[in-house]
Amino acid sequence: MMEQESFERLAVQHPNGRYDVVVGAGLLPRLRELAGVRGQMVVVTDDNVGPHHAAQIEADAVITVPAGEVHKNLDFVRTIYDGLFAVGMDRKGTVVALGGGVIGDMAGFAAATYMRGVDFVQCPTTLLSMVDASVGGKVGVDVPQGKNLVGAFKQPTAVCADITTLQTLPAVEFAAGMAEVIKHGILNDGGILRSVERGEWGVGREDTPHSPHPTLYSLIAQAICVKRDVVEEDPYEQGRRAHLNLGHTFGHAIEQVSQFRVRHGEGVAMGLVAAARLSARLEHCDPVLQGQIEEWLTAVNLPTRIPADLDAEAIYAAMGTDKKKAGGRVRFVLLHGLGEPFTTGEVAETAVIATIRELQA
Ligand SMILES: NC(=O)c1ccc[n+]([C@@H]2O[C@H](COP(=O)([O-])OP(=O)(O)OC[C@H]3O[C@@H](n4cnc5c(N)ncnc54)[C@H](O)[C@@H]3O)[C@@H](O)[C@H]2O)c1
Ligand SMILES: [Zn+2]
Repeated sequence: MMEQESFERLAVQHPNGRYDVVVGAGLLPRLRELAGVRGQMVVVTDDNVGPHHAAQIEADAVITVPAGEVHKNLDFVRTIYDGLFAVGMDRKGTVVALGGGVIGDMAGFAAATYMRGVDFVQCPTTLLSMVDASVGGKVGVDVPQGKNLVGAFKQPTAVCADITTLQTLPAVEFAAGMAEVIKHGILNDGGILRSVERGEWGVGREDTPHSPHPTLYSLIAQAICVKRDVVEEDPYEQGRRAHLNLGHTFGHAIEQVSQFRVRHGEGVAMGLVAAARLSARLEHCDPVLQGQIEEWLTAVNLPTRIPADLDAEAIYAAMGTDKKKAGGRVRFVLLHGLGEPFTTGEVAETAVIATIRELQA
């Protein structure tokens, strides 16, 4: 069992200041103190997360929206505004996002715009939102024209990642988050991949509820540090932040062509293998890298092959559609090795399609 007091505090700098990411167990009951909230505090959550975890926070009100990406839109941002007006939240109040990336993005957008901006605290409850979505300040919603096309940069005043909430997270969602953890490990080549190899991520059982591994918070903290270091250097995504898209050019296209039968984390897993294979094909890296990446992914129950029924040309066609329309080429994040990502727009279509086909064997 993990001690109730084990937590780490990581400082994140951004263009207008700084905030702390607190990672540990049993944090939600102490949220006000840990996040330094003084005024009114309103929790925004979804109908999966709220029933399990909202009561742990001493909030002035709880606004619940239905779970799922299909609800990450302006209609439900309005639901959040209505809830904030109904409890009379003023400019000194704080919006707390309690949920996965969908709630973080949507509640963050509401916090950025309600009365021209109120304080915002993130309490991520999925592994993906802990290591990825809750850090970096990007918030927003989907519109009929595409995903995340309306949004803002809104830095939180604090992020509180309480890993006890992961006990109720379905195993497939946990695995999806591990795809991003491994991606961060590949980008940085530090302790993350060693921890994955040693099995220090386990959640105990296949079904829920699971008990977090005693060192899970440390693995999560390391993964957050990779994202932090990148966003600190490139807060507005003008350069290095693109490295975080490793595996995502392939991944998004596979998700799309499968009509979302392949989940985001699974698509990213396949994309990480494809990025390594393509890098080796173009002689940027040693071919053994692909096998290493496959071992880490397999260890956390993620797929390493692209479903054979998906058309390779259709996957290529789905990549970077907006850029190709503008006459540009698809940009890839490739690898010279572990910890050595780079971006390039100089990859021939034939090489991409051959890579996809080889991974469908
Ligand atoms: N802002 C960013 O920088 C950024 C980065 C990456 C992803 N995102 C966004 O994040 C979203 C994906 O995030 P996600 O994977 O967390 O999805 P999600 O928020 O939809 O959560 C996944 C599912 O798990 C449920 N859930 C969450 N926590 C739970 C818990 N502790 N116990 C039981 N059920 C729980 C949710 O209700 C949902 O059904 C996408 O919309 C994506 O665009 C944003
Ligand atoms: Zn991702």
